[in-house]
This record gives sequence, C-alpha cells and structure tokens, in this order.
Amino acid sequence: MEIAFDQVEPYVKARMQNDSTGHNYDHVERVVNNVQAIIVNESKANALVALTAAYLHDLIDDKLVDDPEQQIAVVKQQLAKWHYSEDKIDQIMDIIEHMSFSKNLDHQYHLSIEGQIVQDADRLDAIGAIGIARAFYYGGHFGESMYDPMIKPRQQLTPETYRQPTTIVNHFYEKLLRIKDTLNTDTAKEMARVRQRVMQEFLTEFKVEWGS
Ligand code: ADP
Ligand code: NI
Repeated sequence: MEIAFDQVEPYVKARMQNDSTGHNYDHVERVVNNVQAIIVNESKANALVALTAAYLHDLIDDKLVDDPEQQIAVVKQQLAKWHYSEDKIDQIMDIIEHMSFSKNLDHQYHLSIEGQIVQDADRLDAIGAIGIARAFYYGGHFGESMYDPMIKPRQQLTPETYRQPTTIVNHFYEKLLRIKDTLNTDTAKEMARVRQRVMQEFLTEFKVEWGS
C-alpha cells in the first residue's frame, strides 16, 4: 500500500484548530515551509520523513496535551494506518519526541539529519517578527507581564526553571536571542540573520519607548 502522505495535513489541521498559545495550525504550516526551504540544500535528507515530522511535531507537546505518552501512541497508530513502515514510524517518532527546546536544555540529543532540519524549521518560527508576535501571544495567554526593568533575565535555564515565567522581554534574552547559535544547518543560520536583527531592533526601540 502506498503511504497516504496527503492525509497528514488535513488530519493535523483538524486536530489543531483550537489552540490559543501560538501553537496553532499556521505555526505548523510555517514550519513545513521552512523545512522545504532548508531541505533543498540537504541532499541526504528524506523529505517524506522530515515533512511528516514537521506536520506532527506539536501534537505530542507536554505543554499542549495532558498526556503526551498517550498522544505518542495515537500518532504511531495513525502513521501505521497511513501505511508508513515501522522503520519510518521510528524515525519520525525519534524526531518529534526529542526535538524541543526544553528537551535539549541540559544535554543535546543527537537528532538525525531530518530531525535537525525540522528542529531548525521550528526554531526559526520562534525568532524574527513572527517570533516577537508569538512570544507576546503566548506570554499574554499565560498572564506574563511584558517587561519589568527590575527583573533581570536568568543566565541559565534548566528543565526545572524553564517553564517558570519572568517577563516576555526576558524571554528574548533567556531564549530567543540565543536560538541562532543552536541552529544545525547553514541554510537556517542564513535565514536567522534578518530575524535576529529584527528582534534586536525591536528590543532597543521597546526600551526607548518604555523610557528605561
Ligand atoms: P519548544 O516547544 O521548542 O520547547 P516552546 O514551546 O517553549 O518551545 O516555545 C514555543 C513558542 O512559545 C515560542 O515562540 C516561544 O518563544 C514561546 N514561548 C515559550 N515560553 C514562553 C514564555 N515564557 N514567554 C513568552 N513566550 C514563550
Ligand atoms: Ni513547533
């Protein structure tokens, strides 16, 4: 039986319609587009594995679903129904279970080339103009304040402290401005350059307007 890749997109779309934390379906669409932009320069990578992982990557996230283990089982079953081989299922699950920022804070998990591409694609969507918008959208949803000059950014994040909010502006210093140095592929590093500048200019102007 042929792999039903064309059913992946509508499935994910239907499951992600109601998110209001900045992890909705248009994030997934941008990640898929970023994968396509990166993968043209990575001849060794399997596009089916990378694109499928990009579509599915946020369905098992521990901050979005109550029971990630159960969701992992659901996604695996779904892939089998779409006639993905066991080997492909393993490759895809290895990516989506290990690619997140929080899972790579204390030690770097070694991802496959496809995993490195999807991780870059996801991280690119956390920086630049979209990254700014998502940080305020996410922070607003969870009641974080925008800025407080008295609360200093933390130097080091750990899996324990990562989810404790400080301020949205601090989130840029603690995570977003550092993303460019964690990217795997040259294509993503190149794409990150403008996005980095946009964030830096935004923060400079933000503080000018704030008056401190
Ligand atoms: P990952 O899923 O790769 O571990 P996150 O879920 O932490 O990464 O980040 C997803 C998006 O949510 C990013 O755009 C990120 O900037 C935003 N975000 C995460 N934590 C915060 C926070 N404390 N304040 C503002 N935005 C946040
Ligand atoms: Ni994502």
